[in-house]
Amino acid sequence: MRLLGLPGLDPYNFPQQEAWRYRRALRRAQNRIVASGQVILGPGVAAFEAAFAAWIDPALAPESAVGVANGTDALELALRAAGVGPGDAVALPSHTAYATLAAVLRLGGRPLFIDLASERPVLCPEALEQAIASHPGAVRAVIAVHLYGEACDLGRLSALCERQGIPLIEDCAQACGTRYAGQPVGRHGRFACFSFYPTKNLAACGDGGAVVARSPDDAEHLRRLRFYGWDASRQAVQFGVNSRLDELQAWLLATKLNDLERRIAQRRQVAEWYRQELAELPALRLPGDGELWRHSYHLYVVQLLPALRDRALAACRAQGIPAGLHYPLACHQHAYAAERFGSRWSLPHTEALLPRILSLPLHPYLPRRQVRQVARALRGVLVEGR
Ligand SMILES: Cc1ncc(COP(=O)(O)O)c(C=O)c1O
Repeated sequence: MRLLGLPGLDPYNFPQQEAWRYRRALRRAQNRIVASGQVILGPGVAAFEAAFAAWIDPALAPESAVGVANGTDALELALRAAGVGPGDAVALPSHTAYATLAAVLRLGGRPLFIDLASERPVLCPEALEQAIASHPGAVRAVIAVHLYGEACDLGRLSALCERQGIPLIEDCAQACGTRYAGQPVGRHGRFACFSFYPTKNLAACGDGGAVVARSPDDAEHLRRLRFYGWDASRQAVQFGVNSRLDELQAWLLATKLNDLERRIAQRRQVAEWYRQELAELPALRLPGDGELWRHSYHLYVVQLLPALRDRALAACRAQGIPAGLHYPLACHQHAYAAERFGSRWSLPHTEALLPRILSLPLHPYLPRRQVRQVARALRGVLVEGR
């Protein structure tokens, strides 16, 4: 690959690699803006929205996907469209990107933190059911986060929410391309929210996001919410914000959407290399597919004993490997949230998982020699005790 020989390109840096690989697509996007004369919410956004809706579910109307400015806005607007308002309780995992909680807080919602399933980074359906039962009538929405690219137990979560009459919102920010029962995640919730932040599986060259709504009324509502509450004649008929997707991002995303399945296959190939390199190492739990779902490997998060985790992280960093923690703190442990909602939540699986997680670098273009370098660093700690 010619590009890897270029000075200055970092094989671990996904946004940089994408910017280079899609430089011509970006130029084409710019030319399309010159041709259309529209910079925001123009033909590029309409084309991307229609293609994205069809990719999630060919049965959806083209207007079902609504482009917005980022993934946090996507969640906030979905919550608003679901009727959540100030003081309302929203059930969500505490172990998620803080953005999930930030969206709830921005509309004045109250988080109800739910524990994870045992040894999985996603909501536990039993814990959710218990929390709903112990707050009768109070839970106004559930956010199911498909963290790292693992799918939640959507069958059970959607059945539970339907039984209880509570809107289910899928946070698919890290799971664009994850499959559940053979289909992309984002079909089970009343709303599915996506981020196109430059590190995501489907990545813009700046901020971007989308909400996919199952009902045409909800999609209409979202279109007004994202643009001052205006209707088609530009009269404000409801509350609204400014959360628009721009044409440059939309044209680029439309091109990248065509490549998405190939990119997910490349991510899965890198995960397979990791499996080959790491499967024999002691005390290491690797991520993988579930019985009903297929991982998209937005993040490759292994689990190991806390003391080893910290040593492995230090060893990686000492060797220039950008390993990381997603996330060092659960949402309820952040000072701002703890002051307002208390830090003493009973979340045993969440608390057991946090000190064990380690994110290893993974993106579609990661060369095999980088995977070997990471494996050597881990072997040094886990086998050779360095
Ligand atoms: C799980 C999750 N939800 C929501 C978001 C928010 O997306 P954005 O950064 O585009 O606002 C992110 C982004 O990091 C995320 O990982």
